[in-house]
Amino acid sequence: MRTKLLGAVAVSIALVAVSGCGSDSSSTNNAGGSPTVGVILPETATSARWEGFDRPMLQKAFAAQGFDADIENAQGDVQKFSSLADGMIAQRVKVLVIAAINSEVGAAVARKAHAAGIPTIDYDRLSLGGSSDYYVSFDNVKVGALQGTALATALHDKPGAQVIEIEGAPTDNNATLFTQGQHQALQPLYDSGALKLVHSQPIDGWENQKGGQVFEQLLTGNGGKVDGVVAANDGLAGAVITVLKKNGLNGKVPVTGQDATADGLKAILRGDQYMTVFKPIQEEAAAAANLAAALAKGDKAAADAAATGTSHDPKGNRDVKSILLEPKTVTKAEVKQVVDGGYVKASDLCSGDVAAACGPLGIS
Ligand code: BGC
Repeated sequence: MRTKLLGAVAVSIALVAVSGCGSDSSSTNNAGGSPTVGVILPETATSARWEGFDRPMLQKAFAAQGFDADIENAQGDVQKFSSLADGMIAQRVKVLVIAAINSEVGAAVARKAHAAGIPTIDYDRLSLGGSSDYYVSFDNVKVGALQGTALATALHDKPGAQVIEIEGAPTDNNATLFTQGQHQALQPLYDSGALKLVHSQPIDGWENQKGGQVFEQLLTGNGGKVDGVVAANDGLAGAVITVLKKNGLNGKVPVTGQDATADGLKAILRGDQYMTVFKPIQEEAAAAANLAAALAKGDKAAADAAATGTSHDPKGNRDVKSILLEPKTVTKAEVKQVVDGGYVKASDLCSGDVAAACGPLGIS
């Protein structure tokens, strides 16, 4: 209750400060006169989603709310993340939306923004120990549970199947939640001996190439034997598949993924990747833009009404008002849905060695 009240006070202070500067907000207005919102994305190399899905979908969602969105990508550079934020705060954006590289930089940026009276939204990644007013993401434990359940299904007729887990960055709270969800599904099977966990390894910075190297070492260390792989996203899955291919194991060993990227979907159509998790980023972008619009107007009641859930921040020991959307499993049979939803074009998938797989699945 106390934290809730303090949070509410902080939000109202931020809102008062923001509306206070509304009268001389010439620097937040672009040539067309729309108010500006700042968005900072974390990286490009860890997943194709940030530039491929988030950027265009956020641009569109903010435009629909009457904003001009200044969307920048920190390219995995913490210094750059911070200086981009400094620039946006100096420019007096109406709201700052951040998908932080790690919790420390996210928390530091939110602190500075609040000191300048600018509300912040944690986008996709919750900065632990942070102070953002709201959090918009997917149910990330469920993302992991979908991955774990799918792998268990793929291996159900292989008792004692050996599993290697290639996890996301230990500094990304989402990666922790994905692992938690995977283990909801897999730990009972490891415990009963239905499956055997060879090793679970987080990969610093979600670096795809490093993920491939680590997987190769684990595979060699296990005498070249693996029956299933948890890969936390499509980028890591791609790196794992490259190693499996080298060993003549691709297509024989189910590999999980996440993000429904074009490369991930192609790997599924080829039979090299078993599944990906589709996260409707259009909905995530729309939710962030809707919240930002309410915050920019100082309409805290509308923002609170939109945030239907909470996320616990164990470091800051607070519950952050959240919008958490539903992820979905995509195996070969569901690839068509992602195409029909407009996320990926059939022409981007159905060429070269993948072309033949599209017809029977009705993808055109
Ligand atoms: C996102 C995933 C993404 C990963 C690497 C996570 O925080 O939720 O969608 O694949 O970061 O960029």
